[in-house]
Amino acid sequence: MVIGIDIGSTTTKVAAVNSGKDIIKVKTRAVDPITSATGAFGKLLVENHLSLGNIERINITGVGASRIPGDLFGISTNRIDEMTAIGTGGRYLAKKDRIIISNIGTGTAILEVNGNRIIHLGGTGVGGGTIIGLAHEMLNTSDYDTIMCHALKGDVKNVDLHIGDIAESNIGFLNREYTASNFGKVLETATKEDIAAGILNLTYQVIGMVSVFAAKSKDNDTVVVTGNGSKNVIGQRILNSISEMYDIHFEFPADAEFATAIGAAKS
Ligand SMILES: Nc1ncnc2c1ncn2[C@@H]1O[C@H](COP(=O)(O)OP(=O)(O)OP(=O)(O)O)[C@@H](O)[C@H]1O
Ligand SMILES: [Mg+2]
Repeated sequence: MVIGIDIGSTTTKVAAVNSGKDIIKVKTRAVDPITSATGAFGKLLVENHLSLGNIERINITGVGASRIPGDLFGISTNRIDEMTAIGTGGRYLAKKDRIIISNIGTGTAILEVNGNRIIHLGGTGVGGGTIIGLAHEMLNTSDYDTIMCHALKGDVKNVDLHIGDIAESNIGFLNREYTASNFGKVLETATKEDIAAGILNLTYQVIGMVSVFAAKSKDNDTVVVTGNGSKNVIGQRILNSISEMYDIHFEFPADAEFATAIGAAKS
C-alpha cells in the first residue's frame, strides 16, 4: 500500500492506495506540517486497522512537504511535486486524459493535462482563503459552516451590480442577470447574508472566468474542479452558470478534495 500525504496551507489530506482496492481517505485541519501529516497518517492507520508493516512507501506533497525531514517512521518517504500530484489525481478522478484542472484550495492553481503531460498554467490568489479572510473582516466570522449558512440565505442582487442595473437590454452575449461588478452596488440595507453571498459570488466568478480563459486558450472544454473548494455547493452553482454562458463544462468528481493526496500516492 502506498500512502499519499498532501500537506496544504489549510488542511492536510491523506489517501491510502492499494492496487485494485478502494482508496482510503482521511482529512485534518493543518497545524504545523509535521503534526498534521503524522496525525492524519496515524488516524488513517488506526481507523482502518492497518499497521506500519502494510505500508510500502509514503509520498508527500503540498506546501508543507518540504518541512518534513527524512523518512517518516522508517518508511521510504518521497517528495512529489505538487503540480504533478494535482494533475495525476485530477486525471485519475476525472477518468479522462485531456482536461483542464482548477484546483481550488486556499488559493487556486490551474493546470493542463494532456495524456502524460502535466503543465502548470498559472492560477489566481482568489480561492478558499479569500472566502475565509473576507468573511473575517466583513462578517466577523471565519467559520466555514457559518459563512456557508449565511450565504445560502443571502441575495447577491443587494451587493453586486448587474448588467440590468446599468443597461436597458443585454450587452452582446451578456444577459441582464449577469454580474457587471462584484460588490459594485452594496445597498445600505444589505444584510450579512447578502454580503456572504457576494463573497462566494466574487470568489467563484473569478475562479470560473480564469478557468474559462485557460480552457479556451488550450482549445479544451472540460474543467475538472478539485480541492476542498470543489465541494462548495454555492460555488458549484456559480461555476455551472458560467458553464452555460461560455460552453465550458465544469466537472466535480467524487473525492475531489483528495485529488492531490491520491495523485501523490499514484506518482
Ligand atoms: N470544513 C472546512 N473547514 C475549513 N475550510 C473549508 C472547509 N470546507 C471547505 N473549506 C474551504 O477549503 C479551503 C481549503 O481548501 P484545501 O484544503 O483544498 O486547501 P489546501 O490544500 O490546504 O491549500 P493549498 O492547496 O492552496 O495550499 C478553505 O480556505 C475553505 O474555504
Ligand atoms: Mg491543496
